[in-house]
Amino acid sequence: MRHCSHRYLYLLLLALFVSFAANCNGGKTSSFVRKGKKSIDMPLDSDVFRVPPGYNAPQQVHITQGDLRGTAIIISWVTQDERGSSKVLYGTSEDSLEFSSKGRVTRYTFYNYTSGFIHHCTLQKLKHNTKYYYEVGIDHSPRRFWFITPPEVGPDVPYTFGIIGDLGQTYDSNSTLTHYQMNPMKGQTVLFVGDLSYADDHLNHDNVRWDTWGRFVERSTAYQPWIWTAGNHEIDFAPELGETEPFKPYRHRYHVPYKASGSTSPFWYSIKRASAHIIVLASYSAYGKYTPQYEWLEAELPKVNRSETPWLIVLLHSPWYNSNNYHYMEGESMRVMFESWFVKYKVDVVFAGHVHAYERSERVSNIAYNIVNGECMPTPDPSAPVYITIGDGGNIEGLATNMTEPQPKYSAYREASFGHAIFEIKNRTHAYYSWRRNDDGYAVEADSMWFYNRFWYAVDESN
Ligand SMILES: [Fe+2]
Repeated sequence: MRHCSHRYLYLLLLALFVSFAANCNGGKTSSFVRKGKKSIDMPLDSDVFRVPPGYNAPQQVHITQGDLRGTAIIISWVTQDERGSSKVLYGTSEDSLEFSSKGRVTRYTFYNYTSGFIHHCTLQKLKHNTKYYYEVGIDHSPRRFWFITPPEVGPDVPYTFGIIGDLGQTYDSNSTLTHYQMNPMKGQTVLFVGDLSYADDHLNHDNVRWDTWGRFVERSTAYQPWIWTAGNHEIDFAPELGETEPFKPYRHRYHVPYKASGSTSPFWYSIKRASAHIIVLASYSAYGKYTPQYEWLEAELPKVNRSETPWLIVLLHSPWYNSNNYHYMEGESMRVMFESWFVKYKVDVVFAGHVHAYERSERVSNIAYNIVNGECMPTPDPSAPVYITIGDGGNIEGLATNMTEPQPKYSAYREASFGHAIFEIKNRTHAYYSWRRNDDGYAVEADSMWFYNRFWYAVDESN
């Protein structure tokens, strides 16, 4: 009898253990609790929105890569008083801007708003790894800036990317941008995962907030490329205001080199930069079978040459793996369409935004399901990307603090804080990734991981 009860107790304990193991949480949900602060946009008279002095002075200056391999750059700015010159003077010596290039001007109206003159000028045939000075507004109130071109594309070229998403223009946004600029790891190019100004959260999509945003981020965007991804706050679809052309303000203001990668739309495209091949996808453009985006991506992935660009990075807005209740499963239909390709082509990392919190996944895939087999759970997969949600730039909508419980096993780390990340490529095998929250000092890392390249060194990073 005693023997029997011992056995019963043993079986009970075993059952309890198995049950716990099956249901236990995944990774870490950070215990860090940010003090409640209201997310409000900085007032229009804030110093960060100041209009540069001088008649028709160029404002909202921003640059992005202008071709496939980093020897061209698109320079954009706005003049408000009159059209003015679209010419850019540039050169490698501060004393003599020996080259010039002429750009083009566009304008748009949105309900009761009329934009300034939006200039876009592409500088081509630039030398790699070179500091260029450039001047815009040359006819009235010239302003001078500089940028450094990337090294020639190659497999072991080190390069440091910053990652920012869902930035907006609140005091938290300002803190995020300052933290990025003060980060001792010195990002050289920003991978921006969508949702820029949040102008559409204001009455009648007040497009003045597109202008203030452009002036706010100029302190970074005029000096280093920001690689743009379109988010839902770029759609600006407002039939109630008579505005039925989606993405109208974004498309006029932010040009990208989509034609260089054979794309037919600015919302999906790719670039090569240093040792990275970066694919930008559009969560808010059609991606079903036979759509232009689907066909472009199907042709694009086999073209990625990991001997030239070992690091395959994807940017998109709506995350596929998100354990926050905010925007839960919104990225599911795109995941169903494309996830098997990401595994087949061994994407290293996918950066997404949209959810105003931070989350990093394990390497998992969920591609075995075929309607009848019931295999519909994420499983560890060494060929799968790490999914990082970094929509924590600090916009007017505030933090997404309500997470699904328990934390799923695929979720390695999650936290509802504002911040930014750095992806620092060392060589073809190793990259160091770190995320910093705004509530800490500039040098403090809240989450980090060594990435091992999926093509050249596909070993388990947790070992
Ligand atoms: Fe979003």
